[in-house]
Amino acid sequence: MAEELIIPKTDSREDIYKSILPQIQALTAGETDLIANLANITAALMEAFRFLWVGFYIVKEDELVLGPFQGPVACTRISKGKGVCGTAWEKAETILVPDVEEFPGHIACSSASRSEIVVPVIKNGKVIMVLDVDSEKVNNFSGIDQKYLEEICLGVGN
Ligand code: SME
Repeated sequence: MAEELIIPKTDSREDIYKSILPQIQALTAGETDLIANLANITAALMEAFRFLWVGFYIVKEDELVLGPFQGPVACTRISKGKGVCGTAWEKAETILVPDVEEFPGHIACSSASRSEIVVPVIKNGKVIMVLDVDSEKVNNFSGIDQKYLEEICLGVGN
């Protein structure tokens, strides 16, 4: 397929997710290289929604290490249980943070970040990486983001 993302002109975030999900699946289905696929997923989400930051942190031994991302430079290593990412890893569940100032231990990679969602990628019962999305707006994520980002993460690494 042509490497071009078609984004519907709508304010409905759900409609945009519905449109880009099969495109992301098509873009990654024919490629076996994990880093290439993670890179395109972050680019597609950034192009579609213009979030502040979209990226993966990959589990390497006892830390999360920065993987492919779009946005400002970020911290490279996060310990298990630390910050939103380390907590999503430890609990093996999605964490939605409406206001980062209300999340004890939030790691402020960017002072512009105001809300955040972190979705774990689970393979054979183990978290192998997390997808982190940050916004400069408070309360910018909902169950809609959770549903579609979790769906994207289900397809990662297959
Ligand atoms: N805020 C994250 C750290 C990663 S950056 O936002 C890219 C956290 O608390 O885990």
